[in-house]
Amino acid sequence: MSKSILKPLPSLLPGAEARKEFPIFSRHWQRRLSYLDTAASSQKPSCVIDRLTCFYSEEHSNIHRGAYSLSAEATLRYEEARNAIAKLLSARDARSIVFTRGTTEGINLVAHSYEKFLKQGDSILLTLLEHHSNIVPWQLLAARKGLQIVFAEVTDAGELRLDDLEKKITQYRPKLIACTQLSNALGTLVPVEHIIACGHAVGAKVLVDAAQSIAHSSIDVGAMDADFLVFSGHKLYGPTGIGVLYAKPELLEAMDPFLGGGDMIREVTTSGSTWADIPSKFEAGTPPIAEAVALGTAVEFIRSIGLDSIKAYEAALFQKAFDLLSREPGVTLYGPITKQGAQASILSFNVKNTHAHDLSTVADTFNVQLRAGHHCAMPLLQRLGIGSSARISLGVYSTEDDFPPLLEAIRHARDLFS
Ligand SMILES: Cc1ncc(COP(=O)(O)O)c(C=O)c1O
Repeated sequence: MSKSILKPLPSLLPGAEARKEFPIFSRHWQRRLSYLDTAASSQKPSCVIDRLTCFYSEEHSNIHRGAYSLSAEATLRYEEARNAIAKLLSARDARSIVFTRGTTEGINLVAHSYEKFLKQGDSILLTLLEHHSNIVPWQLLAARKGLQIVFAEVTDAGELRLDDLEKKITQYRPKLIACTQLSNALGTLVPVEHIIACGHAVGAKVLVDAAQSIAHSSIDVGAMDADFLVFSGHKLYGPTGIGVLYAKPELLEAMDPFLGGGDMIREVTTSGSTWADIPSKFEAGTPPIAEAVALGTAVEFIRSIGLDSIKAYEAALFQKAFDLLSREPGVTLYGPITKQGAQASILSFNVKNTHAHDLSTVADTFNVQLRAGHHCAMPLLQRLGIGSSARISLGVYSTEDDFPPLLEAIRHARDLFS
């Protein structure tokens, strides 16, 4: 393996120091790049890009197949990445880590493979904070099996109403609960440990959508007692096309396979097939091998900064963004921001008389990248009575220097459209 990849990653501080590791910021820009759309997808550090290149240049082969050394080495790298992810999640058993293509596929996997444990009339409980990825697969499942979907309400500020959630758990006794840990549209934090405990009290299994939370604070699946937890590699400074489903091993053992094909079988005959051990049972066909290996490197990168340090840094930066935007005339902020600790890393807002899409287009001329629209959370925005919003989201490379051009863009748009 190339020496550059073997080098242990130096410990880094979040902010300006971490930013230097991301080549995209050193590209020749007319103006500084203020990338404020990490919630959609994070930028990639050199170590992740190098890891992909190195794998394809020096180590590529299919895994779990060849008796030759190149295949054995590729298999080893793939399994090392699985171990790194198990460690990141404090999962005791690496067999509980299934590689998927992302959060969306992980949720669809559970919606299909857990189906046999559900019967007509059963309920699934979601919250109004969910991304479409954590709504639509359950709606498809509900239509297939005749299930009922119930949504826990949010307050006008966009905070989950735990009283409503608890009431609905008692009333409907759901078989499954699926909830986000951090709302992608508002940045609302959700006390998933409490929801898991309430769900378990009525025998429900609970899936945590960690697509947003994974890059911002540490997760211990054992302490949390999650039955399922999903995330995407590309929001964790890793490649696209790779994600993770964590599930309790006994659930994976009991569930049916999701996709059929090579690698997930023990034996195939003309009359039927038997399944490989977990997690292979859920990894049919050739997986995104290089992407999995590079996701392992992304995990090491995150660990070299430390999730506690990332959390503290982003909390201070978030407060700064909130202070600036809340003082800006014509800006309306959404979310339970005034409540201490209720929101993190994501801030949604609108500017008077300015459509969020127009603001985003104007911001782009200042080289400020921000998201506009419904953020794949239409039920939430409908509930809050807003058609769309602009959204900024922070990452390890964000700094206070990202905010002056954002304010400049907001003022310019406000002058243009008022
Ligand atoms: C909370 C949440 N869940 C699920 C997803 C879907 O992730 P992916 O498109 O990577 O599958 C996203 C993406 O933005 C998200 O923010």
